[in-house]
Parts: sequence; structure tokens; C-alpha cells
Amino acid sequence: MSSSRIYDQKLAIQGGKPVRTKPLPAWPSYDEEIEAAIKVLRSGKHARQSGSYVAQFETAFAAYFGVKYAIAVSSGTAALHVALAALGIGPGDDVINTAHCFIGTATPIVHCGAVPIFADIDPRTFNIFPNSVREKITPYTKAIVPVHLNGCPAEMDELIEIAKQHQLFIVEDAAQAHGARYRGKLVGTFGQLGCFSFWEDKIISTAGEGGMIITDDEYIAKRARMIQHHGELRNDGDYYQGERLYYHPILGYNFRMTEVQGAIGLVQLKKLPLYIAKRRKNAHLLTQLLSDTVGVLPPYEPEYVEHVYYKYILKLDRRVLETPALEIAQAISAEGIPATRRYPTPLHQQPIFVEKRGFGKTSAPFTPPWYPGNVQYGSGLPVAETIPKDLIMIRMNPNLTDEDIEDIACAIRKVVGYYIQHQEDS
Ligand SMILES: Cc1ncc(COP(=O)(O)O)c(C=O)c1O
Repeated sequence: MSSSRIYDQKLAIQGGKPVRTKPLPAWPSYDEEIEAAIKVLRSGKHARQSGSYVAQFETAFAAYFGVKYAIAVSSGTAALHVALAALGIGPGDDVINTAHCFIGTATPIVHCGAVPIFADIDPRTFNIFPNSVREKITPYTKAIVPVHLNGCPAEMDELIEIAKQHQLFIVEDAAQAHGARYRGKLVGTFGQLGCFSFWEDKIISTAGEGGMIITDDEYIAKRARMIQHHGELRNDGDYYQGERLYYHPILGYNFRMTEVQGAIGLVQLKKLPLYIAKRRKNAHLLTQLLSDTVGVLPPYEPEYVEHVYYKYILKLDRRVLETPALEIAQAISAEGIPATRRYPTPLHQQPIFVEKRGFGKTSAPFTPPWYPGNVQYGSGLPVAETIPKDLIMIRMNPNLTDEDIEDIACAIRKVVGYYIQHQEDS
């Protein structure tokens, strides 16, 4: 199936008529969430210690994922930080992470005083590549942090096997993949802990910022709950009830979620199944519309996963199209369809790592005496280093209609078709 829409052949970026002038439907879009937030504001109970919405959100989130414990926090970055700290990961340890991602997956490792080691990625799913993980393990490795990137589950069977073989923890970064499934099982439930982000444009959100940790392990859950609340324990052993003794057995932070966020999250969670179904339907329609478009390769969805399409990532087919990804993205955007490159600088080439810029004026935690290993950043991960040159990110959201998806397909076909034609002409 291909789109039959008729459009001006001249690119909008060159002065032609754009495929679309009306903005695409906004995301996120709140309705009952607004009432829920107002109710909290009117109640005067705004912090999680005084209200009950964050606790309710945690209970509902744990039930959705079929796990015993869920701990709400202030962001996805905080979720990863707390999860790693709850496992006791710290100075002298290293943690294996993906090289093709947002930095929020990696800095929590450093904030725990440990060292991230980046692995290469699978060129089809853009997720961490298990064989590369195997090669990166050192005597100091304590955990693997696989990211389910763009909503596509990472290769959990192989990663679990590696973790078992080397006695490593798995902390899943499911910040982009709420409700995605790998062989029928929800991502976030494979590792010792699963971490989620509720940042503004995520699959579900809590008014801009927010995060959640899930686990089945009572001890880890207890530690995580304390760490996100100043490492504090109350008189009766609970975290928020009982007389406050200001008693702090472990190092903690203030990573608490607010009651407004909790109340919004509770409403958003109810919508998650519908959101996932709509995202998948929209993404599959776009893939169908682009199926005969020369020059682009739609996202790969292995048959044993349920991708939730946080983002729709197009791969440029370099056998027929040489135009830089930035030029293509700018031309598609000019057609009225926002498009960008995807993570143009891989994590192992970020200055913070290449130059080992650590705490204060030191290189801690990257070098001895804090870390006995010798980690080198900057090169050696060929797929993560080259693939961003081929990727274009298109925003997906459940509010897009079939007509919107047709416009997206039209803009892509128009731009890619023009550049292929132009190459042939020149
Ligand atoms: C894969 C990944 N990990 C971690 C994070 C950090 O989450 P947050 O922005 O909520 O701190 C993000 C956020 O965008 C992300 O996409």
C-alpha cells in the first residue's frame, strides 16, 4: 500500500508548497489529568509524605507490571541512580551500558561513583548488542543496563544468559518502553530492577518530570525507597509513616515524586493500553505506507517483540541515497513534519567520558585510585559511531490520525524521492 496524496514536487525547503501547514496533534494531551491535579492543589497535600496519590500510583503501577514493588521518583535519571545505588554499585565498579542513547542512561552510573563501559549496538534494532556486552566485561563489572530504545525491547534472553554466566545484575532502562513486551513479557520485569521515565513526551507522563522503579526483591525495594528519601527510616520501620526520628542509616537523596505527579500518573496509567495500541497502529500504518519507498528502511520489529514506538526511526538506505541525515531531516521538517537526527554523538564520544571529567576537578570515578580498571572512550564501537549518520527520527503519538500518518508518509516520500532523483541527475 502506498499513499496516493498529490503534492507539490518542489521541496518546501527550496520554496515549494509544504505537504502540511497544520501542526500535527500535540503530545502529551491531558484531560481528566487536569482535574486530578487541581484536586491535589486544592487539598493542600502536595508532598508525598502528606498525601496518598503517589502511593496509589505505585500500587497501580506494580499491579500493571505484575511485580511486588514500585517506587516512584522524580525522574527517569533518578530511577536509574536509585536502582544502581540500591544494588550497592559504587566506586571501583563498572556497569555496561549502550553507546547509542540519551546521556540520562549513563550519568546515573557515574553519580553512583561507578564507571560506565559502553557496548556497541545491533544495526537493526539499535539496541545494545549482546556479543559486544560479552567483550566488554571486566573483573570489575557489576551490572548491565540495557535500554529498550525507542520502545523496542532489547535482546533479553541473551543478556540474561550473560548476566547469569558472569553474576551480573540487570537494571533495565525502560524509560522509552512502558508496556513493550519481549516474548510476551513486559519489559522492566526481566532484571533485578526496571526503571521508567515519565518525562513530558514519554509513553505516559506526569506533567513534565517523573520516574518509577519496579522490582520483586523486598530488600532492594526497601533500600530503593530509603535512598529516594534521604536514606531515612521512621520509628516504626516505615518510610513515611510513624514518628519522624530523622534517622538515616544509608546515603540518600531527595528524589521524591510530588502528589500532583502521582495523581496525574494514576490517570495516565489507565490510558496506557490504549496509548500502546494507538502507537502501534500508527507506526504499522506508516511502515505500510513506506513499504515501497526507495531510499528508506522502516523500523525493524522482531516478530517476538511488541514495540511501543516511542519514536519512529527511519534508516536511510545508503545503497541508493547519499544525502546527509541532517539535510533530509531539515527538508522533511520544512514539509511540516518535524524530523531530526537521532543521537548524533554516541555516548562513548561525549566529552564528559572522552576527557574523563569527573567529580569536582578530579577524574573520579574513571581512574585509579577510584577505579582499578583502564577504560578508554572515544572509539572502537563501529555501529554506534556510524549509524547516527543514517537515522531520521519521526515523532509518533497516539493522537495522530490516519490522515496525519499519510501526511508524514507523503513528506518522507517527497523528500527522499527528490534527493534520489537529484543524485541521479547530477
Ligand atoms: C533511555 C533513557 N534513559 C533515561 C532517561 C532519563 O529520564 P528522565 O529524563 O526522566 O530523567 C531518558 C529520558 O529521556 C531516556 O530516554
